[in-house]
Amino acid sequence: MGEYHIIGGGRLSGEVRVSGSKNAVLPMFAAMMLNGSESILHNCPLIQDTFTSIEILKHLGCTVTLDGNTVTVDSQGAYAWHLPEGFTRKMRSSILFMGGLIGRFRKADISLPGGCKLGIRPIDLHIKTLSAMGCSIQENGMLICRADHLKGTRIHLSFPSVGATENIMLAAVLADGETVLLNAAREPEIVDLARFLKAMGADIHGAGSDTIVIRGVKKLHSVEYRAMPDRIVAGTYLAAAAITAGEATLTDVCPLDLVPVISKFAEMGCHINETADKISLKAPPRLQFISKLETQPHPGFPTDLQAPFVAALSVAEGASVVEENVFNSRSGHIPELTRMKADIMVMQDGRNFVIRGTEKLRGAAVEATDLRCGAALIIAGLAAEGETIVTEGHHVERGYEDIVRDLRELGANIRHYS
Ligand code: EPZ
Repeated sequence: MGEYHIIGGGRLSGEVRVSGSKNAVLPMFAAMMLNGSESILHNCPLIQDTFTSIEILKHLGCTVTLDGNTVTVDSQGAYAWHLPEGFTRKMRSSILFMGGLIGRFRKADISLPGGCKLGIRPIDLHIKTLSAMGCSIQENGMLICRADHLKGTRIHLSFPSVGATENIMLAAVLADGETVLLNAAREPEIVDLARFLKAMGADIHGAGSDTIVIRGVKKLHSVEYRAMPDRIVAGTYLAAAAITAGEATLTDVCPLDLVPVISKFAEMGCHINETADKISLKAPPRLQFISKLETQPHPGFPTDLQAPFVAALSVAEGASVVEENVFNSRSGHIPELTRMKADIMVMQDGRNFVIRGTEKLRGAAVEATDLRCGAALIIAGLAAEGETIVTEGHHVERGYEDIVRDLRELGANIRHYS
């Protein structure tokens, strides 16, 4: 539902503030179950996943108020540990309530999660690692979790899964004893979650490295915290300026979170200036190709900016190769971009794309298959001749607070129709 209509051809120019991070606040909502007290979270993005998380917390018995970008949750009265499919199908991160509920109640009954269609998205690492902490988990459409004695242990993740790392952190902070997590995810959102939990009184060390040590404590207390800026929204808006040979200054961002991305913008010929909380990009008249762009777990290039970069590279001078190494199927944007006359070949493995830059894209009717695909198509529409209509726009609202407001700040000709 919902469509974005974009008239392409204009150069973007201007300044825009970046909202708080979706992927930082979503695990924090699950963490709010842990302290049985009040949590105040500032800089929360007003996106669909925030509203779904608030519904989940209310369903579990919490009182929740939303005032601008500040969410206040009191989980003292929480009494439920059952999450039906109606909630979990809406977003993948509902799986994080498994760690939050086990940490609080030592039990959780959770329907299997939904979320973006990015190939199979197993939860084997979540199950294996929580089981290693003494949790029994039965799967029959629901995950029936019971952990009479939740104990810290040494865990090695076969893949540095962001969600599995977060679920382990949520279960371990109130477990008995010490948990040592090896090959942990290192994303900035993991660091933000650790800071949030430490502000509640948790004993956590090493977040941001591949080894996180958590010593269980008896109780956590109330917390007030401000979530980090959204580095993926920031990268999306920089790509929008880059594809239009424009310029943009982003405020309330953290350039350190974008180091792997900024170097790729420079490779495309963009000039970047940074201060502690601002990033300015000035694009060349035409972007240069990137010989090889590989997505990797942090500190590699983030998979969530793969689609926006494929869009930008589709008008670059020369041919680029993009390799998706995090998800086994994150190419929904490619057939849609080719409808706009992008020249992209998907290799046999479905994870390597060869993009031959074209002078101009053509506006077309295209469909967002997932959140970042939608963002990529909007970016492509900014540079295309004529009008681009992006349908299934609801995917975009899951991760961008107000992409129309923000891109208009940069001079884009974009409208949204419900
Ligand atoms: C988080 O998803 C983000 N979502 C994703 O952002 C992001 O793309 C991803 O991390 C990678 O950075 C949130 O934080 C809410 P993973 P998550 O577990 O936790 C495999 C967006 O657009 N895997 O690191 O689901 C999995 O299939 C979204 O904002 C297993 O095999 O990602 C994938 O191939 C999209 N078994 C890879 O690991 C498991 O048990 C990375 O998944 C778990 C994951």
